[in-house]
Amino acid sequence: MSGHFSAENIGHGTPGHAPRPASDNQPQHFAFDTESETEIEAILAKYPEGRQASGVIPLLYVAQAQMGRATGSAWVPRVAMDVIARRLGMPPIRVYEVATFYLMFNTKPVGRYHLQVCTTTPCWLRGSDDIVTACKRATGVKAFEETSADGLFTMTEVECLGACANAPILQVNDDFYEDLDAERTVALIEALKRGEKPQRGPTIDRFNSAPAGGRTTLLDEIGTRHADGQPGTAPDTV
Ligand code: FES
Repeated sequence: MSGHFSAENIGHGTPGHAPRPASDNQPQHFAFDTESETEIEAILAKYPEGRQASGVIPLLYVAQAQMGRATGSAWVPRVAMDVIARRLGMPPIRVYEVATFYLMFNTKPVGRYHLQVCTTTPCWLRGSDDIVTACKRATGVKAFEETSADGLFTMTEVECLGACANAPILQVNDDFYEDLDAERTVALIEALKRGEKPQRGPTIDRFNSAPAGGRTTLLDEIGTRHADGQPGTAPDTV
């Protein structure tokens, strides 16, 4: 990663990308709310005494989610990193390092819907360029890292999301929308604008990563073998 870590220069460590600076508009105060405190109690209970620093990633998630609930923009301001550092008894720089290394933590405000388009090779081969174009058309943003004029959408380019079997993938906040094309991407964004929350997962006729249209192997059901031991009739439904 290029660049350097400091309280003034907090950016994401995206391979091949320059670090993105932290927001200039940092809040002065952050405190965990009751919902977050309940989550933190459960998280920290998982670690032995003296090892609570291992909870830094989940606590960053908790802070980001709280900002999303409170402001409609899920990001981690610097003051929240400082609160986490104090809570875990670690130097603030160690929290900054984690928050800026992982792309899933936003160090500046994002729209209510964070559109994270995977453009790594499998998704690219399956049409991620079309997904990017559709996102631009439906939201009005012109480039990655931009937020739409209505404040609803921020589009970000991300590396492999680990769901290549369902490429191309668009992650919206924490949800994956899979097997997309341009038309279904626009429909998804229009639904989000209406305040709907479309079903996450495949957007075509398939179950998770199973073949489109149903199973193609292991078609005989358990117990449906003929007397000679040969497989029975394939089920009508899968
Ligand atoms: S390349 Fe897009 S999910 Fe793996």
